[in-house]
Amino acid sequence: MADIITFANKKGGSGKTSTVLNVGAVLGSKGNRVLLVDLDPQAHLSYWSGVNTYDTYKNIYSVIHGDYSSSEAVTTTEHGLYDIIPASTHFSHKDLKQIIDGRQVEGKLAKALIDVKDKYDIILIDTPPTVAVLTLNALVASRHVLIPVLLNFLAIEGLAQLAQNIYRINMAHNPDLRIMGIIPNQYDLRSNHARRVVSELNENFGEDMISPRIRHDIKVAEAPEARLPINLYAPKSRGAMDFSILADYVMGKINESAGVKT
Ligand SMILES: Nc1ncnc2c1ncn2[C@@H]1O[C@H](COP(=O)(O)OP(=O)(O)OP(=O)(O)O)[C@@H](O)[C@H]1O
Ligand SMILES: [Mg+2]
Repeated sequence: MADIITFANKKGGSGKTSTVLNVGAVLGSKGNRVLLVDLDPQAHLSYWSGVNTYDTYKNIYSVIHGDYSSSEAVTTTEHGLYDIIPASTHFSHKDLKQIIDGRQVEGKLAKALIDVKDKYDIILIDTPPTVAVLTLNALVASRHVLIPVLLNFLAIEGLAQLAQNIYRINMAHNPDLRIMGIIPNQYDLRSNHARRVVSELNENFGEDMISPRIRHDIKVAEAPEARLPINLYAPKSRGAMDFSILADYVMGKINESAGVKT
């Protein structure tokens, strides 16, 4: 049964999509059966994975709406490191709200994913910076949440509120949901400010909640153009090294929560 991890942070540009795709690709390269789910109507994850986002009619929104099962909407990738249920750029926010409306709005994705849970070891969900109801659905469907953050004080200002939201979801919908870690992204070793932000994170969340950091690397920003994950696009880059270490951290946390001794 797949472990489901949502990557969330409503601050735009914090690195959700980059971490989902690159961590997913590393985990896939190590023999795990990995499924990525693109919930973001910007559909960056889908595009980066080589899906034509203009004419995909089997997408995660049609799955949530009940038009297809989740396994029918699974698309394979050319590199084969993971499969993906794509998003689509066709839907306005109003359309999305209508699609997801109805009874038990927050549990629709969890229900839809039951169909694919047995076919994968790990499911990673990319969430949008907007459309809170989609992120809520992702969190209700998940066991873990990972939070990529940029290292400046304004970027981490909303984290306490996110932790509160997770606590509320624990109470109301999903008692199993836990924060797996906070991912410092685009780390600049030379910046005193970044170091101060990291120590602030350590103080507030505890050192074991802060994952290995991802340094700024232009190769990470270039990889979507080639529609390849960083481990294939630039296997010797800093980015590839950092995402490989991050994937080990994620695997370690999954095993820890499953009670597996490593
Ligand atoms: N470690 C990194 N080094 C260099 N560029 C990066 C790195 N991580 C992310 N980026 C770039 O920063 C931008 C934002 O990253 P990304 O799209 O992953 O964030 P996001 O949280 O998914 O954004 P959104 O909230 O809009 O969905 C992208 O242009 C991406 O290529
Ligand atoms: Mg994104």
